[in-house]
This record gives sequence, C-alpha cells and structure tokens, in this order.
Amino acid sequence: MAILTILKMGHPSLYQPSRKVEGEDRSFLTPLLKKMQKTIEEAGACGLAAPQVDVPLRTLVYRVPKTPPHPRYELTPEYDPEGVPFTVLLNPEITPLGERMTLGWESCLSVPGLRGKVARYHSISVKARTLSGEEYFFEAHGFHARLLQHEVDHLDGVLYPLHIKDLKSFGFIEALEA
Ligand code: NI
Repeated sequence: MAILTILKMGHPSLYQPSRKVEGEDRSFLTPLLKKMQKTIEEAGACGLAAPQVDVPLRTLVYRVPKTPPHPRYELTPEYDPEGVPFTVLLNPEITPLGERMTLGWESCLSVPGLRGKVARYHSISVKARTLSGEEYFFEAHGFHARLLQHEVDHLDGVLYPLHIKDLKSFGFIEALEA
C-alpha cells in the first residue's frame, strides 16, 4: 500500500482550519484512513491528522503504544499501560477537564527531526464520531490527552511549535539527546 506524502511545516495547507466531515465524505475517507494508519505504522509514530496529507477534513488516526514512545516523553501515572489501539475520530471536539496543564515533549511527522516542550491540559473529555457515524464520548489523561490535543490542533491549522513558550526547549532530536 502506498504510503502517503506528509506536508512539512511551512506548507500553507497546514495552517488552514479543516471543515467538518459529512456523510458523503465517508466513502472517500475509508481508504484514506487505512493509508494514514499504514503511514503511522511505517513512521513509528502515534498519530496523523488528515490536513497533514493535504486533505482538509476534520479527521485523524492515532494510537497510544503500550510502551512509552520515548523516555523523554513526560508520562504520568495515568499513562495507560495497555495503550490505545488504532482509533479513527471524525469531527472530534475536546473539552478540558480542570485547569491542570503539564509540560511535555512533542514531535510531529510534519516537523521531522525536531522535538519541543508544550503545555497541554492533563485531562480532557472528547466527543467524536466513528466512521460509521455513531457519536461517542470518552475521557483521556496524560499522554493520551496530549496526543489528542496535538492532533486536533492540526484540524484547526495549528502546529505544536506555535505553542512553545521557551524556545530553548525546542531543537533537533539528535542534539537534545546528545
Ligand atoms: Ni503532528
């Protein structure tokens, strides 16, 4: 299966808000979401939003690996050791649960080779639809919540470097790990 081309930071499409998925988009999205999952697997990543592959629709694919993606990621006791299997969200809406925010490392397939520290809500509630159109709700905490805030930002045309307050905690992965 062909792996999708990912737009890189600087491409104007990454800064545009995406539109809601409608019923008639589903036949187009089904094969695309499979390719997005394959792309995540090949890259060893956790998530990918449709605008990153130049499709301006509010949908994303993600997973939370059973083991932390990297020891530098700031994990929490709520990090689910079982992980989250590959999940598709259509039209996700996030509401923070409480005021608590945590700083943690993020990376992005659209910002290859770099990593930065971003403040995110520790706990969120999520409302979304499945590909078959059913509405569902869940809560996410820690890394799971961070990942979803990062991916939903893509749907609003926001890349994580725009959130970095201290640019000394933004840099090339190979240099940060040196
Ligand atoms: Ni990203």
